Amino acid sequence: MPMLIPQDERELAIEILHAATALYTTTSVVDVLLDRIGWPDADGKLIDPSAGDGAFLVQALARLSTPKDDLVSLSRVHGWELHPGAVASGRERIVRHLQIKGWTLDVAQEGARRVIHEGDFLTDGPKEGCFRFIAGNPPFMRFGHLPEFFKSIYRQVLPDVARGDLLHAFLERCVQIMPEDGIIGCISSDRWLINETSANLRRCLGQKVGISHVARLDASTSFYQPKSRRRGSPPRIHPVEIVLQPSKCALQRLTDAPVSPDGVVGEVAETPVLGDIATVRIAPWLGPHGIFVLDADKATALPQAELVPAVDTDDVDPEKDQLGTPTRYAIRTRRDIEPSPEVQGHLRGELGRMPKRGQRSTWWMPPETITLSLNKPALLIPRIGKRIRPIRLPAGILPINHNLYIIEGSGSVSLDAIEDILRSSATHAWLERNAPRLENGYFDIRSGLIRRIPVTDHSQQIH
Ligand SMILES: C[S@@+](CC[C@H](N)C(=O)[O-])C[C@H]1O[C@@H](n2cnc3c(N)ncnc32)[C@H](O)[C@@H]1O
Repeated sequence: MPMLIPQDERELAIEILHAATALYTTTSVVDVLLDRIGWPDADGKLIDPSAGDGAFLVQALARLSTPKDDLVSLSRVHGWELHPGAVASGRERIVRHLQIKGWTLDVAQEGARRVIHEGDFLTDGPKEGCFRFIAGNPPFMRFGHLPEFFKSIYRQVLPDVARGDLLHAFLERCVQIMPEDGIIGCISSDRWLINETSANLRRCLGQKVGISHVARLDASTSFYQPKSRRRGSPPRIHPVEIVLQPSKCALQRLTDAPVSPDGVVGEVAETPVLGDIATVRIAPWLGPHGIFVLDADKATALPQAELVPAVDTDDVDPEKDQLGTPTRYAIRTRRDIEPSPEVQGHLRGELGRMPKRGQRSTWWMPPETITLSLNKPALLIPRIGKRIRPIRLPAGILPINHNLYIIEGSGSVSLDAIEDILRSSATHAWLERNAPRLENGYFDIRSGLIRRIPVTDHSQQIH
């Protein structure tokens, strides 16, 4: 990356700030954090408020379906970054990722420009409510060490509690813009959790959020420095990964009291975990009812070969946890083949009701492509429940609406054994300790959580 020659006070200040704060996160750490916040299991957009060279953004995009040159498919992921060189690196990284997915260069470049916004997150960042997922590794720098240019700007916009460190300002702003169903996953130094001088910040954040997970990270393997950064500058000390959620859903309250990052919240399992023995996927969202998902009577007008029975949690008998006879069908289209005239006629009549976020450039494709092969029996797990409820799903039936879908992995563990593990009291006890809580005793059950369930207690079943 060419060094930019500073031309004015602002550019010089940005260079100084970036040189002091750019410590990038390795993709393995990013992936675990994205799992912990459940990206992209629920609707909503994600933002990295200090994108650097785009590690979080590319890993977040890699979990979405981004069909060739479909700019709308990128619209859930956004990043903010102050430093022009880092913005360029981040955009290049996104372009490389999209080109590997088959995108043409100029469309990929336009996509990367739309994903990464160049600007100061603290002064020009998005306003409240737009981003359900916030993920990143915010910069940290003591307020007293900031270039004078930033001190004078931030003094006017930051509340007192956020002025100790740039990290405090980012945390305060992220919590402020987080919607009521939002979640924040970030990498930070542990000092704000422990120091007496951060008590006011903790109390202020604690009015809205609590902690759902906190764990230490290995500073020697979790980060790398951009090539432009001076060699030998010290790595971030005492890093932690932390997940914050609205207080009513969080596992631990945040108050002015110090928080130990070595606490019991968010256990790290010994291997093997369920992700080692089973394949866990998310069922597609196909848009509002009546477009790609039809009641059986409407579906009879369309060719059977283009339909697949589709089920949601309301098809499950809540007493017996058994699937009833499917009453709906999904239209299964393929990007490379135009659907039959009947399906085209139906879709043309209904697609006007598709919200913007569900519209695709290949007009006959649903918002999320059906990629589940459906050739084996599977388990459906409702995303919200007081316990994990594995429901048997015969081959050929499509779960929809972001329910979880589990099939046997490549090893020798049977679906019966996987179901037993999921229903076991050991798993339920683990769930109670580790799952984010919703209201009225319900848990937020996401794919990353399911993959992390330890299966060591069931060794007789997995050999
Ligand atoms: C610790 S790095 C993290 C980068 C990336 N999220 C990652 O984890 O690899 C922090 C980044 O924040 C940027 N930054 C610093 N202050 C900023 C501000 N006020 N607004 C937006 N970005 C900022 C820096 O230029 C730097 O690239």
